[in-house]
Amino acid sequence: MPQRPRVLLVAGARPNFMKIAPIAAELGRRQLECVLVHTGQHYDASMSDTFFSDLGIPPVDYQLGVGSGSHSRQTARVMESFEPVLETTRPDWVVVVGDINSTLACALVVAKVRHQIGCRLAHVEAGLRSGDWAMPEEVNRVLTDRLSDLLLTPSPDAEPNLLAEGISRERIVFVGNVMIDTLRRMLPAARRLNVAESLEIRRPYVVCTLHRPSNVDTAEPLREILSALGALTLDFDVVLPMHPRTRQRVRNFSLEPMLAALKITEPLGYSMMLGLQDGAAAVITDSGGMQEETTVLGVPCVTVRESTERPITITEGTNRLAPWPLAATTLLETVRRAIAERCGSGALRVPEGWDGRASERIVDALFSARAATHGILPSAATVVSSR
Ligand code: UD1
Repeated sequence: MPQRPRVLLVAGARPNFMKIAPIAAELGRRQLECVLVHTGQHYDASMSDTFFSDLGIPPVDYQLGVGSGSHSRQTARVMESFEPVLETTRPDWVVVVGDINSTLACALVVAKVRHQIGCRLAHVEAGLRSGDWAMPEEVNRVLTDRLSDLLLTPSPDAEPNLLAEGISRERIVFVGNVMIDTLRRMLPAARRLNVAESLEIRRPYVVCTLHRPSNVDTAEPLREILSALGALTLDFDVVLPMHPRTRQRVRNFSLEPMLAALKITEPLGYSMMLGLQDGAAAVITDSGGMQEETTVLGVPCVTVRESTERPITITEGTNRLAPWPLAATTLLETVRRAIAERCGSGALRVPEGWDGRASERIVDALFSARAATHGILPSAATVVSSR
């Protein structure tokens, strides 16, 4: 009997889980074999397990358990433990998503062994660029794209970025935003959770999330942001689900008093966070995913970063960048303006391909004739026969 095509899906940290969930489901629907690998980059229950149960992701086949460490150490540990998994499972495709250290680490391993085992590499969320090389994610994005056979882009603005880097058009397929597949599936249930009520929110509210090293690893930006949030509490409840990194830094810099007027929670599960964003007057964030989610939800978003790799959320969605250099007063003004302008704003445009069907297009792209003939390996014909 011919073997079923085998796809190995990699996830490592919180923003990966909502991207792999619909791909795993689509592979299952088509009776393709899916090998699920969790690198263990995120390991706290609130950063990982909750998402598996909430999103109905099947149990992982391989848990690499790499944990935290410096970038080099974390990347090296993923590489070391992923290589034997790849050699044992010999998939037709390895699919990596997003831009975290685990994404690049697994891409590098595939690049080193694909000629021996005949597997190919696909990158979901290819072509996003902030232009900011100080961001570890930018390094991960550029290098993962360079190594991939198939570049699956989430929005039309991604392809020109790839072409400008010399990647051939044949390797690029526009599939849309797979995270929005999850959003559309989960939104009705998230709305039924009445998150605001369960968090005892009594007034219109603003949600904030922070975890970028550039915002939280030094005291000054963190103090400016917390000061703006404090000022917002005059008119709004301000909810701050706290990333472990941010919690540590607040403690290190003795900024706990600045949290007094805020509603601090543990990191929230996917549905809770979606329900919370959906009902918010505005979102203030340095997350990539939340810039996209707020665009689809029609909620104003202020991104606390100097640049974004998701400019389409500004040109077509509800996102805007905080004025730079970061200061509490101008951040506060920007948030107030974003909320005020929403009241009189017209129709919202959701970017093309953010329609809940990206996972179907991703699996189509993996097994299309085009994918079989273009890529870094000359032909996929060797692939299926290699096991
Ligand atoms: C990582 C990703 C980032 C993504 C973010 C989402 C990289 C370079 N960064 O950043 O792109 O937006 O995940 O959260 O891959 N920690 C825990 N428990 C956990 C995970 C982390 O306590 O389950 C703490 C550890 O002290 C760790 C710190 O948080 O040192 C940072 O975790 P790490 O995975 O290194 O990076 P993130 O900042 O989460």
